[in-house]
Amino acid sequence: MLLLQITGLSGVGKTTLAQWVSHQLIELGHSCIVIDGDTYRKTLCKDLGFSHADRLENIRRLGAVGYEHAQKGTIAIIAAINPFEAARQELKSLYNVKTVWIDCQMNTLIERDTKGLYRKALLPQGHPDKIMNLTGVNDVYERPVNADLYINTDLLTTDAAGTLLLNFILSAVSQA
Ligand code: ADX
Repeated sequence: MLLLQITGLSGVGKTTLAQWVSHQLIELGHSCIVIDGDTYRKTLCKDLGFSHADRLENIRRLGAVGYEHAQKGTIAIIAAINPFEAARQELKSLYNVKTVWIDCQMNTLIERDTKGLYRKALLPQGHPDKIMNLTGVNDVYERPVNADLYINTDLLTTDAAGTLLLNFILSAVSQA
């Protein structure tokens, strides 16, 4: 059984890497599913916002979904910001999840800003479009303690970062 939680700030490359590795795993004959925070927030987690309690609940639900798949032999990869160590540890103790921390410098995220969220979070106080609780800017991201794999995407291509993740997963599969 293999269940992974990929954690990191918005725009760091969680979805891109999860999809890249899923594609490779399927090519190699494995069954794999990506449980993506952005996707599930439109369906199962539609009622949840970005408060501390809602983010914890979000991860609980994604963990339960991932576990269902992993139990059936599918490699399940949860890709969500997952900013709280307590939530990550909860999944670890419940389901023996492996934690993958994807990291890069804030400057890089602000430059990339694929969704325009950093620009909105950095607007001056009182601006009508300002976002008040963007993780890493004005909301907390607790750095993972004892992540099983750490990848910094500042200087790596998707292929290079994806290969690190793929090798980690293949090694975990061979030990399972
Ligand atoms: S988590 O914190 O509960 O793990 P999750 O990964 O599901 O978050 O959702 C994060 C996505 O929601 C981001 O990629 C972004 O597209 C969107 N989003 C909107 N507002 C926020 C916010 N205030 N903080 C973080 N993400 C936000």
